[in-house]
Amino acid sequence: MDEKLSFFKDGIRLDGRRPGELRPVKIEAGVLKRADGSCYIEMGGNKVIAAVYGPREVHPRHLQKVSRAIVRYRYNMASFSVEERKRPGPDRRSHEVSKVSREALEPVILTHYFPRSVIDIFVEILQADAGTRTAGINAASVALADAGVPMKCLVSSCAAGKVDGQIILDPMKDEDNFGEGDMPLAMTPDGEVTLLQADGRFTVEETREALETARKGCEQIYEIQKKALIDRYSRLEEPEEEGSNV
Ligand code: CDP
Repeated sequence: MDEKLSFFKDGIRLDGRRPGELRPVKIEAGVLKRADGSCYIEMGGNKVIAAVYGPREVHPRHLQKVSRAIVRYRYNMASFSVEERKRPGPDRRSHEVSKVSREALEPVILTHYFPRSVIDIFVEILQADAGTRTAGINAASVALADAGVPMKCLVSSCAAGKVDGQIILDPMKDEDNFGEGDMPLAMTPDGEVTLLQADGRFTVEETREALETARKGCEQIYEIQKKALIDRYSRLEEPEEEGSNV
């Protein structure tokens, strides 16, 4: 992008949002018949599916922990999910995203209820538009609840960014690629931070503002996650339709 081009026009972002506004978020729980729990999420241009299996027996067995379940998280970007075809399979980036996403969720899962077991979380990025790790964590959190995995609470995640020296909520691809900073955050409803990353440069004051901005985004996402689960359980009370996933 030409450096002289601005990310704002009359205070409004390139996609029509105000600085503190999220992209539209759509969440549906229980979309896969064969998973124990599942969730589909759209966060702006991101389209992500999460599937949860378990708690179940661990293979290979040497990974078993005698006092708790282990949690595995596999983040995978489909080769068609990005503009320039991504080579299929794991890479450094997917390992990193999988690790930090697992760590964002593990603190709320009551793993000690299930010794020698594993809870597997698979996150598939079908379409990427910046913020895929946050979308994946939101979907995985709902999928865990949908699977009936005992948890202290849900985890909600979104990023703040910095463009033209200004802090914004939930950067989309151009803001992420050509902006000055990106700060993904995940937190519990009572404010415990389980993921905090940052690239780019943020002053102390900007860091405070970015954290506060991302926190407000997480609070909005939490409400949408809760609604998706309530909708899912309302559906369960209705008679099952032919071909339904429920
Ligand atoms: O997606 P997230 O912001 O969590 O992670 P990132 O590493 O900051 O990537 C930002 C964005 O770059 C992704 O969401 C994709 O839209 C894009 N990307 C891409 O086009 N090709 C890749 N191989 C990896 C990322």
